[in-house]
Amino acid sequence: MNVQYAKEVIELPAGSGGKAETLLMRLIRAGHYVDAPCGGKGTCGRCRVRFVSEAPQPTANERRLLTAEERSSGVRMACEVCGAEACSLQLPVSREQKIDVLVTADAADGENTGQTAGAIPGERDCAAMHNREGAAKIWGHSGKQRCGAAVDIGTTTLAATLYDLTERKRIAAASSVNHQRAYGADVLSRIQAANEGAAEELRLSICRDIDALLAGLVADAGIPDDAVEELVIVGNTTMCHLLRGLSCAGLGAAPFTPEDLSLWEGSDAELALSDRWSVSVTILPGISAFVGADIVAGIYALEMDRKKNALLLDIGTNGEMAAGGADGFLVTSAAAGPVFEGGNISCGVAGVPGAVTSLVLERDPAAIGGIRTVELSTIAGETPIGLCGTGIIDAVGEAVRLGLIDENGTFEEPWFTDGMPVAEGRFRFRQEDVRQVQMGKAAIRAGIETLLAEYGGGDPEEILIAGGFGCRMDEEQTIRIGLFPEQFRGHITMIGNSALAGAQRYLLDDRTAAKQRLASITGRAQELSLAMHPKFNELYLDEMFFDTDR
Ligand code: FES
Repeated sequence: MNVQYAKEVIELPAGSGGKAETLLMRLIRAGHYVDAPCGGKGTCGRCRVRFVSEAPQPTANERRLLTAEERSSGVRMACEVCGAEACSLQLPVSREQKIDVLVTADAADGENTGQTAGAIPGERDCAAMHNREGAAKIWGHSGKQRCGAAVDIGTTTLAATLYDLTERKRIAAASSVNHQRAYGADVLSRIQAANEGAAEELRLSICRDIDALLAGLVADAGIPDDAVEELVIVGNTTMCHLLRGLSCAGLGAAPFTPEDLSLWEGSDAELALSDRWSVSVTILPGISAFVGADIVAGIYALEMDRKKNALLLDIGTNGEMAAGGADGFLVTSAAAGPVFEGGNISCGVAGVPGAVTSLVLERDPAAIGGIRTVELSTIAGETPIGLCGTGIIDAVGEAVRLGLIDENGTFEEPWFTDGMPVAEGRFRFRQEDVRQVQMGKAAIRAGIETLLAEYGGGDPEEILIAGGFGCRMDEEQTIRIGLFPEQFRGHITMIGNSALAGAQRYLLDDRTAAKQRLASITGRAQELSLAMHPKFNELYLDEMFFDTDR
């Protein structure tokens, strides 16, 4: 792992948490962001810091995960260092801060102009506007100052848009990393951290992120703070619980009972947002512990409740899915693990600049490891640093297409031992990485098949894939590795950030009608539990294999 450290030296004063407190926790408390996908368990090695002087003795985990060169230059893992001593440190230059977040492209103005099948009404396409600069260039503000913001709190990232409510036009967009990542990459790590006493810190972390996003939005739009009157927020059930300060005790273990899933209306002060704002806040309702307001918002934005039979999929660490239409919904979530977000993969990265999003390989005895990379795309066109979710799918898809792995997912030699070279050996996709993908894709596929069988509506007429992952996905590769079934071919529509689009629609729609529709969606949604479902467990084992005859 090639890590660069900032020149700035942080002087961390003596801590008050005693010998048991980790350096990771002290840094978080002091307001420093340290990437910690494993949540401080000492397994990911991403929480590296460099001691400018007097580094402590390395622990067993540090000897395992850090190179000898790193250890001798003072690099340690922040979650492995305990004690209260003052110290001088350098933090890594974080690529996570530049994480690529999908913000939907067009004004969700509530008018169904130019709507294509499967698209979000009012949205043109999912060609992403990924940054604030883009927003400032594309939309200008009229000077009328009645504005509202929509915010999607993802486990990894946040995305937000600002609307002129009078003209019903988007005037700015922004995104950021979710700084709760310092407590772990997935929702279960956050739930665990909250239940072990960090709930208030997690709440304040998300409030600070929302404050920063709002500050960026008003600065870009050139409007005063008090022009923002309203905030509509969506997120998964854990994010909404943490934001509201609700107990996560019921979310961490069966029977997975949320404190409150209803639509919430309040003020910025009740959420501990900065006092520079004076806004009314609405948090949209959820359906269950694992199918939250983000999916409800997607159903709302896509008008799935007015369709005949559609399937909505949002693939992250949980594969959240909803099947149905005007007659109601069956929803579920399949635990895919972090693999499709680059986690648990030796060369996996999040959607940061340099992350490989697509690739084409060919056998070539003259190339490094016998495999040549003939096509490769990265985020922002930067030098490849690793594979993000869609690059991971392509790597496995290419291994299947070229016959490098068998139906069990086992590489031939020499790739079984050495890994499959990508980007002319810059990194290697290894046997254990294929195993991780097998588990992730089996969970999603078995979840889809079980959900559709239980819903009983036949093949869905539309398959709507939400999120940035979906926008870059190669349909052929997803079918080749068995993530999606053959009958999905030609029916998949990438819809962008449907959760944010739902928050935007709510911001602009007639409020009484919007509440009625949301109540109707959640009231007619039933959750399917996959954990003990015999069909799911049977399919999960079947779907671990690859169809190498394809
Ligand atoms: S190893 Fe320290 S957070 Fe993962």
